[in-house]
Amino acid sequence: SGAALAVAAGALIGVPAAQPALAAPGAPGAPRYSAGAAGVGDPYFPDQGNGGFDVQHYDIAFAYDPATRHMDAVTTITAVATQDLDQFNLDFRGPEISELKVDKHPAAFARDGQELIVTPRPKLKSGQVFTVTVKYAGTPPVITDPDGSLEGWVPTDDGAFVAGEPQGAPAWFPGSDHPTDKATFTFHATVPEGITAVGNGSLVSQTTENGRTTFVWDSAEPMATYLATVTIGNFTVTESATPSGIPIYTAVDPRLVTQSANAVSKIPDIIEYFSSVFGPYPFSSTGAIIDRAPNVGYALETQTKPIFSSSPSVGTMAHELAHQWYGDSVTPTKWSDIWLNEGFATYATWLWTEHTGGATAQQTFNNSSNYGRAATSSFWQTVLADPGSVDMFGSVPYNRGAMTLHALRGKIGDTAFFKLIKDWAAENRHGNTDTAAFIRSAEKASGMDLTAFFDVWAFQKGKPASW
Ligand code: ARG
Ligand code: ZN
Repeated sequence: SGAALAVAAGALIGVPAAQPALAAPGAPGAPRYSAGAAGVGDPYFPDQGNGGFDVQHYDIAFAYDPATRHMDAVTTITAVATQDLDQFNLDFRGPEISELKVDKHPAAFARDGQELIVTPRPKLKSGQVFTVTVKYAGTPPVITDPDGSLEGWVPTDDGAFVAGEPQGAPAWFPGSDHPTDKATFTFHATVPEGITAVGNGSLVSQTTENGRTTFVWDSAEPMATYLATVTIGNFTVTESATPSGIPIYTAVDPRLVTQSANAVSKIPDIIEYFSSVFGPYPFSSTGAIIDRAPNVGYALETQTKPIFSSSPSVGTMAHELAHQWYGDSVTPTKWSDIWLNEGFATYATWLWTEHTGGATAQQTFNNSSNYGRAATSSFWQTVLADPGSVDMFGSVPYNRGAMTLHALRGKIGDTAFFKLIKDWAAENRHGNTDTAAFIRSAEKASGMDLTAFFDVWAFQKGKPASW
């Protein structure tokens, strides 16, 4: 395969693409073919995403055997070209590719790090809808984050824990791995009978044949790639619904059922409470995946079904469910605005705690993890709205983020604040946005100039003394 890839790569390098003889070059309406950009230019992860097209849908079909860790997969991407393309990239860190087609035509391809470089022939015109079908097989990799955490395809003793924030999705499917390119997803996962494969969205079918079960999951609302999962293992499955009728699917490692029972039992109440504060739940199903994965050690807000690597506390359950509004539906345009995810989800847990008779949000604001930290603490030396890729999941986006929201609430008053966070969820539903837009919305909701407020809380280092 190395030789075949080298040949494919050679064909791409330094050879200007021939123009088709459809119109004189430069004539009005003549296609102007060029290569799509290799990334969307996110400063934290410059290779993420791709230029020249938008993904509409992923169809990811695979068989996986936990015993051998072998995957056989075919991913079909439906995309629309946003420029005339003679070459484009996908992000992919998965195992060996045996075949790649653009529409019905086999296409040359090369791999370079996480870039999968594709040469479609015929070339693609701007506005054209096209499919890319990638066939691959082998063991998908575990990816290590800038902060040292494991993500991607993480084998467990009975399957795999699958999580992709911020850069694990290309471990198991090719695509455009940046939060700004949301798409719908369908998964077809075939696993040994008795094992469950749990994906985002709704279970369409579950069929067993010849000792293997195929689970088909459909994620009808748009999703960022980092929120995709098909987690595999022995699971105790429970299906129910919230009081307002949202289906709940929970898959819990049998070894964690007892310890997780309390947090799982709170899902309906949490969804109902957050719906009352943040507005309608943004997806057509909810649930949770609780999968023993000691080497992972974190939870993630995988869309519709957050995933936990150990039995969660109620607070962690609330945090991950709050992300369904803030993170999954309303998603940052760039990773440096991660506080829009983590600060909101953290503040949501403060509200939940107060709602259920625990500490008030004001008391949590004041405690020693938050404003009670000494001004000399290094905690105050990370900038909220640009923490860096190593500290994006450190305490600052979470705690300083939640403090910023609580301080804002104090500044603009409860009425304006709660209208703001509801409108924020509604206006940016299933979209992408940033800190500057949040400031504009906060100023609109309050009628106040909040430049100095956000300067102190979001853009400067140091413990805010007054705001
Ligand atoms: N967004 C997750 C949460 O707070 C945390 C993900 C941590 N991931 C990581 N690679 N460190 O709910
Ligand atoms: Zn979070």
